[in-house]
Amino acid sequence: MSADPARSGCEQLPGRLATAAVRSIAPYVIGKPISELERELGISEVLKLASNENPLGPSPAALAAMRASLDDVWLYPDGNGHDLKTALARHHDVGMDQITLGNGSNDVLVLLAEAFLTPQTNAVISQHAFAIYALATQATGARIHVAPAHAADSPMPYGHDLDAMLALVDADTRLVFIANPNNPTGTWNSEGQLTRFLERLPDTVIVALDEAYFEYARSVDCPDGMELLRRYPNLVVLRTFSKAHALAGVRVGYAVSHPDVADVLNRVRQPFNVSMPGLAGAAASLGDARQASRAAALAAEGRVQLGEGLPALGVRCFSSAGNFVLVDVGRPAQQIHERLLRRGVIVRPVGGYGLPSCLRITFGTAEQNERLLGALAASLKDP
Ligand SMILES: Cc1ncc(COP(=O)(O)O)c(C=O)c1O
Repeated sequence: MSADPARSGCEQLPGRLATAAVRSIAPYVIGKPISELERELGISEVLKLASNENPLGPSPAALAAMRASLDDVWLYPDGNGHDLKTALARHHDVGMDQITLGNGSNDVLVLLAEAFLTPQTNAVISQHAFAIYALATQATGARIHVAPAHAADSPMPYGHDLDAMLALVDADTRLVFIANPNNPTGTWNSEGQLTRFLERLPDTVIVALDEAYFEYARSVDCPDGMELLRRYPNLVVLRTFSKAHALAGVRVGYAVSHPDVADVLNRVRQPFNVSMPGLAGAAASLGDARQASRAAALAAEGRVQLGEGLPALGVRCFSSAGNFVLVDVGRPAQQIHERLLRRGVIVRPVGGYGLPSCLRITFGTAEQNERLLGALAASLKDP
């Protein structure tokens, strides 16, 4: 055997030994990190509006709690997350035994797939849904049933069509993923649509209701999944501290479900899946009632600013209940994305979501949004 088969031109690379399901996965494409673009262009002051982060940053209470936690990081964190679960149980008026903590809500999505899917089963998702649903499903070898989304000229362009999703549920379906609101489309389903769907779903199916953008969607008819949990034992509501709570870097998310589902997820969860600063920061952030409202207020301002500024540039901008907006630039969006990068602005092209003429742009501060509009205006004019 060559010492370095990866460089020897040898055909028998060790990656072939991975499962066929895993080898079929195309890796998730992350938003370009600021440091990477700064290195590439030799510039500073890059503006990143690509990953739906909260530009206001974390609550001061969360920062203080995370700093204080550093003294103890030589110890493993509390694997049961007792303090954070206590705070969450009080916040949502649920039992601690209903909560599953994750290394970001991404972790919980993967746990759900691991716990409920096998190659003999399938998961139902919508076209243009958050990419991790398909990736987590694929890794298990389960089949993916993709329901067509609402049409571009419908009242909820590219949004989840729950009737179409229900039509794809069969005897082998174990999981349905619903993002409410969805990323990257910003679309949402109303309480009526969701309960109608849940009423008709067989009890052999778990519903992962992903509410990563919940805090941003309070001014539209986007339901609070926590209020539906008592009526629907197969419902799992996911939330994250990465968005409105501005703690994306420490990776904390969670699910609230029937205790029986939480018990199952706990069996596949890694014992110390949430870090000590993450546990401390999340609990403190939850205690700062103004954190979420500040984030939502900034997003509402961004929605108005870009809602006026983008159409003025001749691009189509869709309604969004998140802290971001989907924009159709009417030509291959990758080209505009690259031009924006040269101007030091990172947004997200969403060709991988089947929307090749669209960009997803996170709402920034007023100043950042203004810079984005200027850079986009120039990028659209480039020869
Ligand atoms: C709809 C949706 N769900 C879940 C996540 C995962 O977030 P995290 O793992 O940071 O909690 C994201 C992140 O962008 C998202 O957009």
